[in-house]
Amino acid sequence: MATASHPAARGILSDDRNDQREQVIEMLTKAYWMEIETVMSYIANSTNPDGILAQQVVASLQADIQEELTHAQQFATRIKELYGTVPGSLQFSAEQDYLQPPADHTDIVHVIRGVIEAESGAIDFYNRIIEATEESDPVTNDMVIAILADEEGHLRLFEGFLREYEAQGLA
Ligand SMILES: [Fe+2]
Repeated sequence: MATASHPAARGILSDDRNDQREQVIEMLTKAYWMEIETVMSYIANSTNPDGILAQQVVASLQADIQEELTHAQQFATRIKELYGTVPGSLQFSAEQDYLQPPADHTDIVHVIRGVIEAESGAIDFYNRIIEATEESDPVTNDMVIAILADEEGHLRLFEGFLREYEAQGLA
């Protein structure tokens, strides 16, 4: 890839930005896998829970699945635009131990805490991408800022859920 001749004279697509582009692709690839794993975790954790108390969390997670899937597609598209290759499934390795389904299907607090940890991790990493692309890649920068806004929204919603459970002595 580094040997390909790119016609862009300026910006992240230009030949003299090969190294920077590789760095951005590496970060986008990690972000892509984070989104894919989140989709898997949210499908499981929006399907398994039992009980009335779980229903609002279930509904929120079901809606978030579509957003996270869209994020994954956005990261994939940007990898391609930067002359990268979207990885195949064999390169996936799971990290979200905190979002494994609880043994007790009514343990919705476990799910809420897991979602908060996943969203916090995404927020932390996306802030790093934003910092890294501030000067070099305004398109990636802009895209990740918009995705970050979604993740911050999810985090705040689930922090609110947790607060309510704590107030009721359930967490
Ligand atoms: Fe996301």
